[in-house]
Amino acid sequence: MFSLKNVKYKNILVIKELNLPQEKITCIVGESGSGKTTLLKLLNNLISCDQGDILYKQQSIYDIDPIELRREVVMLPQDPAIFPGTVKENLLIGIKFAEKPLVDNEKLQEVLEQVKLRKPLTNIAEQLSGGEKQRLALGRVLLLNPEVFLLDEPSSAMDEETEELVIESIVQDVRKNKKSLVMITHAKKIAQKYGDYLIELKNGLVLSAKEL
Ligand SMILES: Nc1ncnc2c1ncn2[C@@H]1O[C@H](COP(=O)(O)OP(=O)(O)O)[C@@H](O)[C@H]1O
Ligand SMILES: [Mg+2]
Repeated sequence: MFSLKNVKYKNILVIKELNLPQEKITCIVGESGSGKTTLLKLLNNLISCDQGDILYKQQSIYDIDPIELRREVVMLPQDPAIFPGTVKENLLIGIKFAEKPLVDNEKLQEVLEQVKLRKPLTNIAEQLSGGEKQRLALGRVLLLNPEVFLLDEPSSAMDEETEELVIESIVQDVRKNKKSLVMITHAKKIAQKYGDYLIELKNGLVLSAKEL
């Protein structure tokens, strides 16, 4: 689905060749500072490489309108923004920006259930805990229903039990709807349990890339 060839980004990332499979769960692991977030941003064309090329479905991402690309490929940042207002407003903000049709409360409740956030839609989002905010942001991304999810440590602020439930539910959704998921995770256990493909980065290099 994504194919990187001779990619170089500053002195941060050097990737001779890397392929990320379509309709699979790809996990990216590596110590802090190894270039994981940089890789994800490159895939979403939030930053561009200095050398080389990145293909998405055989086409250079630099030949695709970034807005179009980001309609199909949605990234959840490591530290997603929570806006003043309610849980409902925060869920809807993504589809508003993307100019997608608004959805009803029933659909919003469904998404909250998916991310295991049992809070009324009318609650003030800024009063949620760190882990709850993270799930809210995840719900926002799920509502966008993209082809490809790029999730940057989506469960880092959750306790282990919640992490398991939430990741399980997203993975199920991705598999059922034949989407692709690329997820950075600090939890090797999660990668082993849910990943189809594992990429390990170290000091800006691909240490290994293999099927699980
Ligand atoms: N815009 C930038 N300019 C300079 N250095 C950066 C920039 N973004 C990230 N870095 C550095 O690049 C390295 C990789 O960062 P990052 O991709 O965020 O790592 P990870 O997500 O694996 O923790 C780090 O050493 C970081 O400090
Ligand atoms: Mg990071």
